[in-house]
Amino acid sequence: MISYGASLRSLWPLDPTVTYLNHGGYGATPHEVLAVQTDWRQRIEKNPTRFMTAEYPAAIRHAAGVLAGYVGAAPDDVVFIDNATSGCNAVLRSLDFRPGDEILIANLAYGAIIKAARYVADRTGATLMIAELPLPVSHEDDVVAAFAARLSDRTRLVVLDHIFSPTGLVVPVRRLSDAAHAVGARVLIDGAHVPGNLALNVIETGADWYVGNCHKWLFAPRACGFLWATGAAREAIHPLAISHGYGQGMTAEFDWTGTRDPSTFLSVPAGIAFHDRLGGPALMTRNTGLASEAARRLVSLWNTEVAAPPGMCAAMAAIRLPLEYASTAADAVALRTWLSEHHKIEVALSFQGDAAWVRIAAQAYNEPTDYDTLAGAIAAYGR
Ligand SMILES: Cc1ncc(COP(=O)(O)O)c(C=O)c1O
Repeated sequence: MISYGASLRSLWPLDPTVTYLNHGGYGATPHEVLAVQTDWRQRIEKNPTRFMTAEYPAAIRHAAGVLAGYVGAAPDDVVFIDNATSGCNAVLRSLDFRPGDEILIANLAYGAIIKAARYVADRTGATLMIAELPLPVSHEDDVVAAFAARLSDRTRLVVLDHIFSPTGLVVPVRRLSDAAHAVGARVLIDGAHVPGNLALNVIETGADWYVGNCHKWLFAPRACGFLWATGAAREAIHPLAISHGYGQGMTAEFDWTGTRDPSTFLSVPAGIAFHDRLGGPALMTRNTGLASEAARRLVSLWNTEVAAPPGMCAAMAAIRLPLEYASTAADAVALRTWLSEHHKIEVALSFQGDAAWVRIAAQAYNEPTDYDTLAGAIAAYGR
């Protein structure tokens, strides 16, 4: 039986004096996985030419195969990318859009990906449509209804966040994929926060393309993400950097996008093994429970509300902050900075609708008192 909480902190290089409640932001890589990455780097440096020409092709395919097994995919349907941003861009920028076509994305989607979709729409004459979700969201039907209201026979691509970043809301992606396909649209799922946070089978999501990060919740070193596609969808996409593999299929194109440090990708099996040793599914259940219980306590303390009910979240939850602490976006930034600088608390704070929302995350090294520390610091703010 694993004893989660502060006793596990030494497995990470995290500063022990910091209250780290933002695992979702950039991930945090355990010592053990960093050591595996160092081993890969040393192996590469012994003979870079030999490694890149003779060893790399099989090594990258092996790592992709392990990851594919973890996400329920065939080995050659998974390729590595630097991060979710580049994976979503690769799909968006590979597809042909024409004036009159529509790309649909939610108002609560990750801002950078909304911008990428806007860029593609601007360059092709397509129209960017926004599904307007309410905040808070009280039921998954609200999410489905918001997308359904904007779907039409002009919709060519629906971009679905599997977990919305600032709210932690888990989106009913299968229902939405089916609805999109019913009108003839294709589906890109942005699962930046999913691997290691929520059980994932990419095929069951119904996506045409699935993008995920391994550096957030799967304990891989930064920068490390993946892109999944199968059948015709594989042939439709290209990496942002076209290189030697052009025209030879998805794996050849994405496995070599120019010289880079592949040690992050090659360390993914170590990240998965670490996750498994910390409990795998049990870790995810524990983290989800911790986040939801902490959210419940903060809501009752602040007398506010959560952005989404506990049953719709994984290891992150967003709680509305009383207006007395932050009534503008600038206030929210000021509070986040103050928490970091004066209390060594790292937590995500966003301003959405007309309120600031505190997004907490729960990882193996967190425990309930971490969120009490946050509550205590915020109570002292401005005094
Ligand atoms: C839904 C979503 N997409 C994309 C990203 C960007 O991830 P990255 O910076 O690793 O590309 C994030 C980051 O939190 C996210 O939540």
